[in-house]
Amino acid sequence: MSLLEVDDVVVQFGGVTAVDHASFVAEAGRVTGLIGPNGAGKTTCFNVISGLQKPNRGRVVFDGRPVTRLSVPRRSRRGMGRTFQRLEAFGSLSVRENVRVARDIHGGFAGLLRPTAADVDGLLERVGIAAYADERADSIPTGTARLLELARCLACDPQLLLLDEPSSGLDETETDAFGHLLAELAAEGRGVLMVEHDMDLVMSVCDEIHVLDFGKVIASGAPGAIRSNPDVQRAYLGYSDADDQELVR
Ligand SMILES: Nc1ncnc2c1ncn2[C@@H]1O[C@H](COP(=O)(O)OP(=O)(O)OP(=O)(O)O)[C@@H](O)[C@H]1O
Ligand SMILES: [Mg+2]
Repeated sequence: MSLLEVDDVVVQFGGVTAVDHASFVAEAGRVTGLIGPNGAGKTTCFNVISGLQKPNRGRVVFDGRPVTRLSVPRRSRRGMGRTFQRLEAFGSLSVRENVRVARDIHGGFAGLLRPTAADVDGLLERVGIAAYADERADSIPTGTARLLELARCLACDPQLLLLDEPSSGLDETETDAFGHLLAELAAEGRGVLMVEHDMDLVMSVCDEIHVLDFGKVIASGAPGAIRSNPDVQRAYLGYSDADDQELVR
């Protein structure tokens, strides 16, 4: 049984079909990539999975149970966490307070009674932004804010992390460290589903990749197979090595 199953999901915005009968899975203990050209429907899929967008049809099954009708908070309580392509930190709070709010709200009344400051600082340390703990969230660099979103997501101890373009704004060294952290999170048994445009990161860290184009899943497989898939090459480059061979023949 997969940790997450997206089953035949369709999302229409007026005349635009943003997600077109998409089905794919993400497993616990693995990093799964969801890639595709701009406008392919990746963020819309994340919105359907996390509960922000109601699909026109299809369903989402999480940890063996359908969650398609559950609210965002209930999915979060079941163990889904996410970060956003357009950053969503509380700008007037400090970095530490942002993570603390997530932790305390998620923990409910019991969470408010537990002393949590040490855990929060541990999380900031873990994602590599402890030096920014007391800075206001609206004053930190974009890359740091992405790591803050990751720390806030981890504060809810999710079984599944949905990360929407988590590496944009990170420099090369930060991206390397981030790749190691993703592998570590998967090794802890969590599932990671990541939308990402940095192909080096995707190819080096993902165990499996699903490719969306115009809302449809056009390929699923291991990084090597995806890289050499003619449909994927056409979606990204407009042509494939296989087309050259056809011309030569
Ligand atoms: N709320 C909305 N209303 C109308 N159209 C939308 C809405 N959200 C997304 N779309 C359209 O749906 C399609 C898929 O958008 P989506 O944001 O899911 O793509 P994406 O793969 O995340 O792209 P990017 O790589 O640029 O982030 C696009 O054509 C987009 O313009
Ligand atoms: Mg997007």
